[in-house]
Amino acid sequence: AKSVRLALLGCGTVGTEVVRLLHEQAEDLTARIGAPLELVGIAVRRMGRERGDLPVDPSLFTTDALGLVKRDDVDVVIEVVGGIEPARTWLTEALRAGKSVVTANKALLAEDGGTLHDAAAEGGADLYYEASVAGAIPLLRPLRESLHGDRVTAVTGIVNGTTNFILSSMAATGAGFNEALEEATELGYAEADPTADVEGFDAAAKAAILASLAFHTRVTAADVFREGMTGVTAGDMASAKEMGCTIKLLCIAQRTSDPAGGSAVSVRVHPAMIPLTHPLASVGDAFNAVFVEAEAAGPLMFYGRGAGGRPTASAVLGDIVAAARNKLTGTRAPSESNYAQLPVRPIGES
Ligand code: NDP
Ligand code: HSE
Repeated sequence: AKSVRLALLGCGTVGTEVVRLLHEQAEDLTARIGAPLELVGIAVRRMGRERGDLPVDPSLFTTDALGLVKRDDVDVVIEVVGGIEPARTWLTEALRAGKSVVTANKALLAEDGGTLHDAAAEGGADLYYEASVAGAIPLLRPLRESLHGDRVTAVTGIVNGTTNFILSSMAATGAGFNEALEEATELGYAEADPTADVEGFDAAAKAAILASLAFHTRVTAADVFREGMTGVTAGDMASAKEMGCTIKLLCIAQRTSDPAGGSAVSVRVHPAMIPLTHPLASVGDAFNAVFVEAEAAGPLMFYGRGAGGRPTASAVLGDIVAAARNKLTGTRAPSESNYAQLPVRPIGES
């Protein structure tokens, strides 16, 4: 059968694992999709960088990401670079040209997701981003599809692996902040600039994406109340422990009522003290856990590895399979370009 041709933008922590999984599972993927996946190019910043023994033809590497995106023989563009630009230019170019996009870029989706969704609608293309929130955990597809017949009222949880790793280390061993952050970076959990993790920007971006999907509206990172965890000291953690509690960086998105009678949303990220008996208290390492409450379904809990190259690549691969199947059958992912704009209320205002 004709292959589905993939362009990979970025080959760092996540990208290298995407390449490995594509190679390791090539046979199964071909059987599941009904056609082989073919990697036709990999865009990176530094050609000479050591990338271990990647199972890939070295001639596939290029520094011309835009040139790769524009190639006529590309069906699906996978973006695991990060940041707003040039990623936005690459992805809007791909989507408008009808190429499917799979991305893990929560910063871009939370800053300007509307532009990407509109470009997808314009080009009749798929935009998938399961890996952008909570790493390996299947969370966005349930919100985007399975729960669409229900009314979600709240999404609450731990959505940043790096800060959960740091807070868990501080609570368990009394490890210092810098030491724990260094370890999280070595393990591939932290963002290129870890300020995004520890100051809550990464969790706020994920909160915006979750709120948008849960409440069928457009929430941007700027709408989210954000407080990072750099102010949490070893003393705070010890005091919390004495009270039978621990401290976690929480993301809380709620549907509230608008004074005019309609719905509104409130979204926030901040450190919170929770009792050790609470299910979120036992979420350790770089794991994430998210509770979704829906009117008919009641409470749902999602738990798993929220960061790291291989777990994140698992979510990227799932999206690649969905996009490839759609290409072959001429079907489309659910569109989000028609979302209504609900008012976003600051905390405390209902
Ligand atoms: P890395 O920093 O490890 O990798 C980034 C890659 O992008 C590198 O291969 C780099 O090239 C390449 N790159 C950077 N700038 C350019 C450019 N201008 N043109 C072409 N290539 C470029 O990041 P991660 O793999 O950790 O993260 C990638 C994305 O995935 C980000 O959006 C991140 O937020 C997201 N993500 C990461 C997770 C994780 O646990 N790490 C989990 C979930 C999402 P070079 O190799 O030459 O430097
Ligand atoms: N830096 C992010 C985290 C990666 O630690 O959660 C996963 O999105």
